[in-house]
Amino acid sequence: MDKLLIHGGLPLNGEIAVSGAKNAALPILCAGLLSAEPLRLKNVPALNDISTMRRLLQQMGVSVFDEGDGGMLLDSAGLNNPLAPYDMVKTMRASILVLGPLVARFGEARVSLPGGCAIGARPIDQHIKGLRAMGAEISVEQGYVHARAKRLHGTRIVTDIVTVTGTENLMMAAVLAEGETIIENAAREPEVVDLADCLNAMGARVSGAGSGCVVVRGVERLHGAAHAVMPDRIETGTYLCAAAATGGNIRLTRARPSNLDAVIAKLVEAGCEITREADAIRLEAPRRLKAVSVRTEPYPAFPTDMQAQFMAINCVAEGAAAVRETVFENRFMHAVELTRLGADIKIDSNVALVTGVPRLEGATVMATDLRASASLVIAGLVAQGETRIERIYHLDRGYERMETKLACLGANVRRAA
Ligand code: EPZ
Repeated sequence: MDKLLIHGGLPLNGEIAVSGAKNAALPILCAGLLSAEPLRLKNVPALNDISTMRRLLQQMGVSVFDEGDGGMLLDSAGLNNPLAPYDMVKTMRASILVLGPLVARFGEARVSLPGGCAIGARPIDQHIKGLRAMGAEISVEQGYVHARAKRLHGTRIVTDIVTVTGTENLMMAAVLAEGETIIENAAREPEVVDLADCLNAMGARVSGAGSGCVVVRGVERLHGAAHAVMPDRIETGTYLCAAAATGGNIRLTRARPSNLDAVIAKLVEAGCEITREADAIRLEAPRRLKAVSVRTEPYPAFPTDMQAQFMAINCVAEGAAAVRETVFENRFMHAVELTRLGADIKIDSNVALVTGVPRLEGATVMATDLRASASLVIAGLVAQGETRIERIYHLDRGYERMETKLACLGANVRRAA
């Protein structure tokens, strides 16, 4: 099982390019199910989750061609098996994103319930509620969601909670429905907007994505299209935090600073100099950061996917800060691993009080989920001595070639079996 070995204490300096967004590419790959004509994608990140989604689509009868350098061609003309089996769904809960497109295009879907994951129960009741409101007959038997509909019909849906993949699933279901669908209390994440842009390029009529109220006017069919996946804002934020914690100076290209306002504001509050360009962002860190409190909320507020990274930078900052997680019920598992490196963290329900210490000491730690892994990497980059991070398959799900990119910035990091 791979591990990452990091010798900390070196500032990150230099320039790297940001990869395509995992959480935009995953729903957009599923959008390929909606048309019998090819969907040509660019800037698809080379991640384990993307490979998993690709295998899932291929076993449904979708042809997927690698076109090199982030290019991918999807051809769903041969779609003949609207099934997402448990052994694939259990490794990646985003598989649930095939549900809406399959019911819309094929009239039927059998998708394994994702089950919980390390960070929470993560139910899909809102996905099911919305599809039922659009006329789908849905039963849950032997751990599978079985959905059927001759043709979905438009309706007005108000989700009980803001859900990113819930909004995406319902948006994809609605594009081929009869009539108009309004999704209120919709997620406003940039990845939802990127999916809407791709659907509209395919001939869908989606408006309001990013506003909290999405309106979809159903059409008879979608045609092929070409779409470039947006840059990964969480990868961008992760490298900014790594440079901030190590007293570095980096420039990230192929980025989109405009969807990182809440994160940038917190890094400036911590004492960093940030320079925005149209498709790049530069960060110059102070000698030592000031501790900053964060509270996770749906976009455009501070993202839950950046919570673990900010807990890590607060571990060595000056002062104390409260990290409040309001989106998931169990997203503090990195805290106990950070304390193994010498961090001072006290947890009370969904608040972690982090008191900055002068330094961390390298140790062996274990990754538990994707963003927890990223926080351990950041801590290892600042800890004195060697930090060994085990189970880094979690990291490989969402970060493309992280050790290579970090080494480009001057880090002493290598992967070991
Ligand atoms: C997406 O997950 C992201 N994944 C997550 O990123 C991200 O953390 C999350 O949105 C929040 O921003 C992808 O886009 C593939 P939610 P999702 O539905 O859609 C509850 C990463 O690190 N809920 O917005 O699964 C749920 O339990 C991953 O890249 C229901 O109760 O998250 C949670 O408490 C981790 N019922 C809250 O809503 C539902 O039907 C928000 O979840 C759906 C969700």
